[in-house]
Amino acid sequence: MAIHWFPGHMATARKEIRGAMPDVDLVIEVLDARIPFSSENPLVSELRGQTKCIKILNKSDLADRTVTAEWLRALSATAGVTAIAHHVREPKFLPVLSTLARDLVGTVRNRPVLAMILGIPNVGKSTVINTIAARTIAKTGNKPAVTKLQQRITVSRELVLLDTPGFLWPKLSPEACGYRLAVTGAISDRAFDFQDIAAFAARFLLSRYPERLTELYGAKCLVANPDDLVDAVGRARGFLGKGSVVDLQRAAERLIHDLRDGKLGPLSLERPEDCGVG
Ligand code: G4P
Repeated sequence: MAIHWFPGHMATARKEIRGAMPDVDLVIEVLDARIPFSSENPLVSELRGQTKCIKILNKSDLADRTVTAEWLRALSATAGVTAIAHHVREPKFLPVLSTLARDLVGTVRNRPVLAMILGIPNVGKSTVINTIAARTIAKTGNKPAVTKLQQRITVSRELVLLDTPGFLWPKLSPEACGYRLAVTGAISDRAFDFQDIAAFAARFLLSRYPERLTELYGAKCLVANPDDLVDAVGRARGFLGKGSVVDLQRAAERLIHDLRDGKLGPLSLERPEDCGVG
């Protein structure tokens, strides 16, 4: 599956982040807890250098708790990095984040900690900023056409956020990253074929979460060949056309939307061991 990103935008983001980094005490990277590896931007570790980093595994309400715990351990094993799980309905996140920031950065004399916040589109970076700041802050522009601007957001006497243009690209390889990004909705639905993505999701669900499939669609979903799962979902939901032939497009869309909407329960699409992390 090909994901296209524009070299011009990559160069601009690199320049902006590199330019701002010397003034920054801390980097806060927002990731999708279901895909902490695929939702990373490769530039962040490259440009961060020795700057300390908090990785927020956001949308943890949608992720498998056990796997998230594995990720937190694996990511926090890197010197200067602390990973924390978070989701939008979690109360009192600012005090937790401020304490982590202070522990990582130490005392910054006579001024608040300046933290650059980064994330690829759709990981929930704006939602996290609004939660921390306890008010609605305008987006810095996740789309190529939106004017780029950095904004400083004072969230407390201890912490100021530097929000950078959100137009960062995800992992473009290996290919599985692209599929995982598509399954979670991080890539526009116009950029891929639903049946292709559903075939990937079917293989994944049958191997990792078969019991969730039977709970939602019934026992007939436990097909021996993953290619038959979309057909089984279509039959379970009555998406039948002439001659009882399943509308595979509709069934594929249903499977993906059920997964994204959490109807298959909280699940994680990658584990540290799948990604060679930790
Ligand atoms: P971005 O700035 O990184 O691009 O992401 P943004 O905050 O706009 O969030 C992208 C989508 O993810 C939004 O849903 C948002 O509500 C959802 N989201 C953010 N954080 C969480 C979380 O912790 N848990 C869950 N379950 N969802 C979260 P949307 O459908 O695109 O928009 P909306 O209808 O909610 O406004």
